[in-house]
Amino acid sequence: MKKALKILGLLLGLIVLVLVCGAAFIHFGGIPSYETEKVDLNIEYTPERVAQGEHLANLICANCHLSENRLLEGAPMSDVKEFGEIWSANITNHPTAGLGRYTDGELAYLLRTGIKRNGQYAPPYMPKFPHLSDEDLYSIIAYLRSDAPITKASDFQPPACKPSFLAKLLCRVAFKPFPYPEGKVTAPDTSDLVAYGKYVVTSKIECYACHSADFKKNDYYTPEQSFGYLGGGNILKDMEGKPAYSANLTMDKETGLGNWTREEFAHAVRTGQRPDGTVLSQTMPRLTSMADYEINAVWAYLNSLEPVRNESLKEVRAIVK
Ligand code: HEC
Ligand code: HEC
Repeated sequence: MKKALKILGLLLGLIVLVLVCGAAFIHFGGIPSYETEKVDLNIEYTPERVAQGEHLANLICANCHLSENRLLEGAPMSDVKEFGEIWSANITNHPTAGLGRYTDGELAYLLRTGIKRNGQYAPPYMPKFPHLSDEDLYSIIAYLRSDAPITKASDFQPPACKPSFLAKLLCRVAFKPFPYPEGKVTAPDTSDLVAYGKYVVTSKIECYACHSADFKKNDYYTPEQSFGYLGGGNILKDMEGKPAYSANLTMDKETGLGNWTREEFAHAVRTGQRPDGTVLSQTMPRLTSMADYEINAVWAYLNSLEPVRNESLKEVRAIVK
């Protein structure tokens, strides 16, 4: 009996030791690094690309990288507190503090795979764009290299990020870099509303990532196979830590957008105001500059989907109200 207890004690001790070592490894090892691949890219900075890039960078990158000085020089990210003390990076045209550090190929590689030029993985608070079309990606880069007011060189050095244990753990076990695409990535023609709407929802603005059931059950390779795709219910937290449940974007009449008009949808997406005048949580980005052609395409795509009835959302809504 005594011997059995002793063995059990030893075993438990061993398990605790392994756990402590594992935790120490994750804590001190920090965010993992990967080998980088050299991508040869010579992007032509045409005026068309700069114009399209302005639209995209304002829609996507500016949400996190724009400072109070209205420069893309980095800003604190207070809505991801569980991931630590996080600042976005300086992506202005400064040669050392900003994007001057990156070649076009390195930048494309980071945006596609999530691997920075120094090999470190960019944690989940910096998004990746594996499905964005080459043309859209090149346009963003062309714009960031332009002399637009918000890209003007700034020598501001945002404080180094202090990722939490959770962020480090997730980067070890849950998130891995995406492979760099082997072939060309193209977008459907904007005249094909349903196809283009799907592109916006899954690849360009990635509404599905928040608007499906659970971040952990998203399929980042084949977005439409995500659990509860576009049916909402995913829990997000605003800057004060207040939860917001992402909405059901399918056309179910009771739990989704089935009774909305396209104009009401456009207004909510751009201003954050529902048809009944209530204001959406700040966790829903204000997509002020979303263009008519994008809104119309998304609306057509959402209308082409089988409506999802999300009963749990109904209960959740009742509690939150
Ligand atoms: C949801 C917020 C968010 C969005 C949107 C976002 N970023 Fe970031 N970005 C971050 C954060 C936070 C970091 C800092 C990550 C770190 O230091 O580990 C970062 C880091 C970077 C870096 C620096 C990598 C390095 O080597 O340190 C570049 C370049 C970058 N982002 C470019 C972009 C571009 C271009 C876009 C738009 C297509 C964009 N980001 C959109 C949050 C965001
Ligand atoms: C970063 C996460 C995030 C992204 C990306 C996002 N949303 Fe949302 N959205 C939310 C959350 C959370 C809510 C719920 C807010 C609330 O209830 O106050 C919401 C609410 C909405 C609503 C209101 C619906 C209702 O019934 O009240 C609409 C419409 C909407 N989003 C459309 C979109 C579209 C279209 C896109 C992509 C172009 C998008 N969202 C991208 C998080 C997101």
